[in-house]
Amino acid sequence: MMLGKRLLLVTCLLGSSGLAHAEGDATKGKTLFSRCAACHATGSQNKVGPGLAGIIGRPAASAPGFRYSKAMTGSGLTWTEEQLDTYLAGPAKAVPGTTMAVAVPNAQDRSDIIAFLKTLNAQ
Ligand code: HEC
Repeated sequence: MMLGKRLLLVTCLLGSSGLAHAEGDATKGKTLFSRCAACHATGSQNKVGPGLAGIIGRPAASAPGFRYSKAMTGSGLTWTEEQLDTYLAGPAKAVPGTTMAVAVPNAQDRSDIIAFLKTLNAQ
């Protein structure tokens, strides 16, 4: 019984240290956005990918004039920070059939990129 409680405590501590880097750094995110910039504008113009102005809180597949995949159009998602994190971790897993192939495997990088994307909402 005692051992069980101790294991539980260790698990909780590990769990909370995992959350410690949840806060993103927008400045780092701006640099990391170079991975996205070939396809995405920070404004509303579309390139290979849709413009990402105001992306936080925006319904998926709602950039005017962009030809989305059927998968994205039918996803019914709204880009909350959590949903963006899941999509960037594995686009094809989050939205099977999406035409975006680039993933961001590192959780801290994703937090930083999302923090940067948040600044686009303020423009
Ligand atoms: C090689 C081109 C390419 C790169 C690089 C790329 N994307 Fe994409 N992205 C796309 C395409 C194409 C779509 C549309 C996907 C679809 O319709 O299924 C998309 C869609 C998205 C969407 C959904 C937009 C909406 O209006 O619903 C987000 C958010 C996004 N990308 C973020 C990023 C971020 C952040 C990065 C950098 C880490 C990135 N993308 C890198 C091509 C790219």
